[in-house]
Amino acid sequence: MTEPEISMLPTGPLLVANNLTRHYLVSRGLFKGHATVKALNGVSFSLQRGKTLAVVGESGCGKSTLARQLTLIEAPTAGVLQIDGVDVAQADAATLKAMRHKVQMVFQNPYASLNPRKTIAYTLDEPLLINTTLSSAERAQKIDAMLAKVGMRPEHARRYPHMFSGGQRQRIAIARAMVLNPGIVVADEPVSALDVSIQAQILNLFMDLQDELGTGYVFISHNLSVVEHVADDLLVMYLGAAVECGAKAAIFARPLHPYTQALMSATPAIRAEDRRTKIKITGELPSPFNAPSGCAFHQRCPHATERCGQEVPLLRPIENRMVACHRVEEI
Ligand SMILES: Nc1ncnc2c1ncn2[C@@H]1O[C@H](COP(=O)(O)OP(=O)(O)O)[C@@H](O)[C@H]1O
Ligand SMILES: [Mg+2]
Repeated sequence: MTEPEISMLPTGPLLVANNLTRHYLVSRGLFKGHATVKALNGVSFSLQRGKTLAVVGESGCGKSTLARQLTLIEAPTAGVLQIDGVDVAQADAATLKAMRHKVQMVFQNPYASLNPRKTIAYTLDEPLLINTTLSSAERAQKIDAMLAKVGMRPEHARRYPHMFSGGQRQRIAIARAMVLNPGIVVADEPVSALDVSIQAQILNLFMDLQDELGTGYVFISHNLSVVEHVADDLLVMYLGAAVECGAKAAIFARPLHPYTQALMSATPAIRAEDRRTKIKITGELPSPFNAPSGCAFHQRCPHATERCGQEVPLLRPIENRMVACHRVEEI
């Protein structure tokens, strides 16, 4: 069995997002006109080949919106997305088609993401049929090999999704995402719907596949303990924007943004020694309809001053990572 060809040049970051922004225009009801939901508000990062960038933040902060921009499901309102050195907005139809192979997505719910009427073989064959010129024998071989990589047996190919457990279905969804050997997989809460006992197996599978295939992951989760073992880099989001971004090891060792600190102290498995000084975030995530002035986090931040309510903090380099906080030096 020959390995799927990797068409990417082995230089430069695989994925670069620069000021990626996505606003939605929503109706507020009869006579009230429209309002803008600022779901994603200028997020920048780069993903290196074979590495994992974890995106964390509470529900509603724009993680899935980011995933839809990165996987070309939606076009951003503003900002630049580069895949393998090519600006997506400037790409012609043929280039765009090739780019779509390079970025695949794994969704949270493997029950909803697999077609219940199609066999596993059909589900895995479809992307190969559409995107490659392989013969049916070659495709069948590739499907068997991919199923083996995700820990499934060849006879599973003839079965339907309902015949599998949640963990097995997520393995199949991962096989489908990776069968074309994309350089990038965007996984949006890929273990959140699974039993805790299964989560670790799926996380290990992601890591084994990365070792074998060199895939870069954007790994989205609301749960810091889930990303602790898979991430190389971390992007902490709050209300559509990055508040802290850098190497996972640095941020886990010493979170600097008050929001990152609060997320960490709210995650039981992490920093047990710090739990005495539990930092509580009070209140709820503000509405992206009506974002607070100044720092989006200031109303919930224990360290906020008047300035925080007035001036938007810019992301700036502090202690080997980027942090958006006016008060980070003092706290
Ligand atoms: N298609 C859409 N139309 C209007 N608002 C949306 C749409 N998609 C997401 N939103 C809003 O954008 C914000 C971010 O949502 P989302 O990206 O799903 O967050 P997360 O995945 O972090 O929970 C939420 O307030 C959500 O209601
Ligand atoms: Mg989401």
